[in-house]
Amino acid sequence: MSEDEQHEEPREVPDGDPGDEQHNGMSRKNFIIAAGLSAMAVPATMGAAKADAPGRAAEAKAPALTPTPSCDDGDDPTPPQTEGPYFKRNSPERSNLVEPGMPGTKLTVSGVVYSRSCKVVANALLDFWQADTYGNYDNYGFRLRGHQFTDSAGRFSLSTIVPGLYPGRTRHIHVKVQAPYQRVLTTQLYFPGEPRNQTDTIFDPALLMNVSNGPNGRVATFDFVLTVP
Ligand SMILES: [Fe+2]
Repeated sequence: MSEDEQHEEPREVPDGDPGDEQHNGMSRKNFIIAAGLSAMAVPATMGAAKADAPGRAAEAKAPALTPTPSCDDGDDPTPPQTEGPYFKRNSPERSNLVEPGMPGTKLTVSGVVYSRSCKVVANALLDFWQADTYGNYDNYGFRLRGHQFTDSAGRFSLSTIVPGLYPGRTRHIHVKVQAPYQRVLTTQLYFPGEPRNQTDTIFDPALLMNVSNGPNGRVATFDFVLTVP
């Protein structure tokens, strides 16, 4: 069963609950609707969203970039992971999740979405959600939740904070990634050097970001490889 078919409603169980891996079947169409991303399934709506997005017009005029065959892992697809209990549909479209007064260490996460043949994927959807610096998810509003689309070179960039730890898990960021009209990859990103990486049974080293210290906080990179041609 593919990861998009495994989606179901968020449940009040910890990320580490073994039951997380047991999901009801759901069609792709129903998943898209359930995820609040129905606009992605309608070409006309998607085109309109593109045109409305700031910066899109400028990008369209830029010289076409040659797809870069630089998947660092060859063509290994990014592995899926459990969604966990805290996904919320209908996140706002934004690449900056940092709000005034929000405590925590600033973090940028950027990278490229590739297809399995190492072509960049433009207009791929990335929907991020994470805990705050104290390890709490906002399950009432949309703090530290947001979606964005890759640009014409397949690039994304997220401005956020370093997520805090909560019981049972190592430090992580949740994300759903979807090439236009393709299945959704649900996965998580991890931080190197975290002691709990050794004991978190969900942790996968293939999902480690490259993280360094920048002048304004941490700077992380991660490239996704989707199972699309
Ligand atoms: Fe989580």
